[in-house]
Amino acid sequence: MTTADRKPRAFSGIQPTSDSFHLGNYLGALRQWVPIQDTADAFYCVVDLHAITVDHEPKVLHERSRVSAAQLLALGLDPEKCSLFVQSQVPEHPMLAWILGCETGFGEAGRMTQFKDKSAKQERTTVGLFTYPVLQAADILLYQTEQVPVGEDQRQHLELSRDLAVRFNTTYGSTFKVPEARIVKETATIKDLSEPEKKMSKSSPSPRGCVYLLDEPGQIRKKIKSAVTDSEAEVRYDVERKPGVSNLLNIYAALGDTTVAKLEAEYAGKGYGDFKGDLAEVVVEAIGPITRRTKEYLADRAELDRILAQGAERARQVASRTLAKAYKKVGFFPPAAL
Ligand code: TYM
Repeated sequence: MTTADRKPRAFSGIQPTSDSFHLGNYLGALRQWVPIQDTADAFYCVVDLHAITVDHEPKVLHERSRVSAAQLLALGLDPEKCSLFVQSQVPEHPMLAWILGCETGFGEAGRMTQFKDKSAKQERTTVGLFTYPVLQAADILLYQTEQVPVGEDQRQHLELSRDLAVRFNTTYGSTFKVPEARIVKETATIKDLSEPEKKMSKSSPSPRGCVYLLDEPGQIRKKIKSAVTDSEAEVRYDVERKPGVSNLLNIYAALGDTTVAKLEAEYAGKGYGDFKGDLAEVVVEAIGPITRRTKEYLADRAELDRILAQGAERARQVASRTLAKAYKKVGFFPPAAL
């Protein structure tokens, strides 16, 4: 048995649907991915299959998948410690998704709040968008995953993955591990800077609401300084009455490696100007180097593709074993070697 076999298995994914990840992705999920590669046998996936559930442009998608992988490496993922890959290189994902889709109730899939939100924003809603959470369950269950580091908005999808694992195991006999979400409470939902009652997202109506990891320092400073606060001038944590300031405090505490209580004491009697100015520098310092390192990874595309091919190879070794097991359980012929 190798060391990797004895470590718990972790899996997580991110969509390559924008030119850069944002601060919500980073604090809610990606920052946890880095230490987990030391404590778990971790598989991290750029989920390009999920990305075509909404309108996309093929060349842009292809490039964004590369840029996404480069950013993940720039954040500190080490291809010798974890397996980083692009979902389309591992065909076992949609193959297991078919089986799991046949275990999922129509009403059960219809209750997914992300589907409701996303379909309300689309002119045309596809079957792919509807079955998206089933593919996500396949992503997770293929790796016999125990830990799934994600932000709060993925909790419901995780619950579905757990339900499907239990249901399949009950019907066909033990096949899948039942995964657990790993959500960091303080940064579970980073809010939009312009509309702090909403989560930070790339589809923010205000261009200043979302801080991207690849933003220039000047853009970051502008966005933080124009963040919506309130008419008081007190740096105090109160999510109900002061959602803007509370969000900024959460971001500051997480990136500045301090606590909200310490920050409240430090800024007692000072105005929002000082607080935002200091926070802007903390954010620039924390995410500034990511841009440079991302560019370095993108400068050597052959090496980047080699890293991804190696990740996909490792992923397939695990995924194909689980898929073969599930195929046998449901009465299929063994999958042909691809
Ligand atoms: P995605 O690509 O929307 O987001 C990637 C990760 O970032 C987290 N996140 C946030 N966390 C805190 N505050 C925010 N404002 C914020 N916005 C995004 C998300 O929770 C997520 O962890 N369905 C997934 C991708 C996926 C996946 C998987 C994840 C596909 N298969 C299997 C885990 C396991 C998604 O759309 O994430």
